[in-house]
Amino acid sequence: MTQTYQTAFSEPWVSGPILGIETSCDETAASVLSAQGTVLSNVISSQHHVHERFGGVVPELASRAHVENIDAIVSCAMEKAGMGWKDLTGLAVTEGPGLAGALLVGLNYAKTLGYALGIPVAGVSHLQGHIASAWLDNPGFPRSCVLLVVSGGHSHLYRRENSGDCELLGCTRDDAAGEAFDKGAQMLGLGFPGGPALDRLAQKGNSKAIPFPRSIIKNGRLDLSFSGLKTALLYKVQVLDETSIERQRADLAAGYQEAIVSMLVSRAFAALRQSKLAALAVVGGVSANSRLRALLQERAEEEQIQLSIPPLRYCTDNAAMIAAAGREALQSGRRLSLDAEPYTSLASLHL
Ligand code: KG4
Ligand code: ZN
Repeated sequence: MTQTYQTAFSEPWVSGPILGIETSCDETAASVLSAQGTVLSNVISSQHHVHERFGGVVPELASRAHVENIDAIVSCAMEKAGMGWKDLTGLAVTEGPGLAGALLVGLNYAKTLGYALGIPVAGVSHLQGHIASAWLDNPGFPRSCVLLVVSGGHSHLYRRENSGDCELLGCTRDDAAGEAFDKGAQMLGLGFPGGPALDRLAQKGNSKAIPFPRSIIKNGRLDLSFSGLKTALLYKVQVLDETSIERQRADLAAGYQEAIVSMLVSRAFAALRQSKLAALAVVGGVSANSRLRALLQERAEEEQIQLSIPPLRYCTDNAAMIAAAGREALQSGRRLSLDAEPYTSLASLHL
């Protein structure tokens, strides 16, 4: 899908400041990285207030909000970084996966800007971006590691080689971990987006008060499944009246969260054992979860595993991670074609 054009930019790219742009879903984000890869600015405009009353992201509204916001967000990122257009040596933009209309806004903006400034543009996969976030504040973290990518669209485990090649070790058979959080939060009446709300409520509950199932898929891979857990929560909520739900809401949230988090942690550590690696990076929106972070830290200390979980500002969607992945792409000579189109699914992995 991604084509390369080597006409104006056939010469090697000289590393300098990069502008990253991310518009794959409901965050319009821009970030400037220095020549050395330091984050100089990281600006995010969330559209949660636009989609909240619909209980999920409405694609058409997302595209329109990106169109309205992108210019101001990019200008703000440039200003915060103290950069002028002439200082930029490259651009990076999310090419997919995501919402087609939303992706088109960022992609067309980057292609136009790159053409006007005469600088190369790198198209990166949103997943590559999340993965790159593991090294943003932790550049010395081993490049050969196990990766757990947990977001609203993905629950994937990879073995990453020094070269950057990633082998898929397992993924979810149904919902992504973020979807499981969001749908659970919806059942508990916690609104949208549900993950952070469920995380906050669970801190007030007892995770052992109400038992929840953990599913184990025995197919030779390290796959995950959250549908049984989701159904278990639905059945528990269905038989309770409003007063009982109110009384048990925090315990339900804590038990449900504990089940998701413990499945993720047990799969990640099984991947480490299987790969004989001692470094684990956990990235994506769900890596912002406080219980997941605590449990990972605990297990990593016990088993002497090097752990990289990005700071909260780089867990959920942002453009610093896109700029970081784009920097590597530009260095390895990859360029976005002017006729490149966004891709909406992860079909060919684009890793
Ligand atoms: O990476 P991300 O911002 O967007 C996607 O690429 O999907 O991830 C968003 C997901 C949402 O499902 C959101 O509910 C979840 O990450 N999330 C959380 C937390 N913060 C965000 N889930 C659990 N606990 C959190 N603190
Ligand atoms: Zn994401």
